Amino acid sequence: MNACIRAVVRTAIYHNLEVFGIIRGYEGMIHGAMIPLEASSVANIIQRGGTFLKTARSKAFMTEEGMQQAYDNIKKFEIDALVAIGGDGTFRGAIEFKNRFGIPIIGTPGTIDNDLFGTDNTIGYDTAINTVVHAVDKIRDTAESHDRLFLVEVMGRDSGLIALSSGIGVGAEFIFIPEKRTDLENLFHRLEEGKREKASKIIVVAEGEVAGGAFNVAKQIHERFPQFDTKVTVLGHVQRGGSPSCADRVLASRLGFSAVEALLEGKHGVMVGMIDKEISFTPFEKAVKHIGDIDQHLLRMVEILSL
Ligand code: F6P
Repeated sequence: MNACIRAVVRTAIYHNLEVFGIIRGYEGMIHGAMIPLEASSVANIIQRGGTFLKTARSKAFMTEEGMQQAYDNIKKFEIDALVAIGGDGTFRGAIEFKNRFGIPIIGTPGTIDNDLFGTDNTIGYDTAINTVVHAVDKIRDTAESHDRLFLVEVMGRDSGLIALSSGIGVGAEFIFIPEKRTDLENLFHRLEEGKREKASKIIVVAEGEVAGGAFNVAKQIHERFPQFDTKVTVLGHVQRGGSPSCADRVLASRLGFSAVEALLEGKHGVMVGMIDKEISFTPFEKAVKHIGDIDQHLLRMVEILSL
């Protein structure tokens, strides 16, 4: 997100615009937490994870009073347009705000879940999956040396894309995601079949997986196969921090830059994304309609490659 903010600020200044950063997103808009930003304010942040402007999940912004206060502050600071960086919640808020007050808003996709329609990748996704891959590679060493079965829980409350990509990347034996019913019987059957072969196994489980998460699946495996040394690792917020990958920095820079230029061309109410290496614009209403279907070929491939 820092790389995106940097691009927005510097592109806007290049076009002689005045820029304010809003601390803690919509929450800061309600409290008038706007700070003027110069080109130098965003120096030395491209390599830092998170967002130097901070962020918050604002319940108040979802109320009529909160929105009105936010709008009053926008007027007070004479802000003509907004660039919103975020995911589903951010864009749903943007739809509501622009419908109510007619403020031009343009969005850039900032969520590690990659669950927005209208962009191949969201900002942070590449870094997150690489973080998972590095962590699981390390876990694999113990799994292999001690003949253990590891369930690794990764982020993704509603989306299995982190689990799927990183799972393929680490050569996981099984991947469980929210979009597909977890078939425990099939898992048990395959564990039974593979008992005499490779003893170490990695199962990547998305946090929103429907059988109740990594601990619950581990419990059921243990009941059925007490002879297996079954362990659980929850990667948690490790996945949402750290220095961004080069791919993420480039993506964030391009999207931030394009967001400002698009606003100046009169585009708004859209999310700027990148599809097949080209900048694209998708109405917020469409962007928040999650991709939904997971590529079935990939799931089939995972089964075949994990034999
Ligand atoms: O929205 C991105 C996400 O990483 C989800 O995958 C995850 O469930 C959630 O954020 C965690 O949010 P919080 O840090 O508020 O618990």
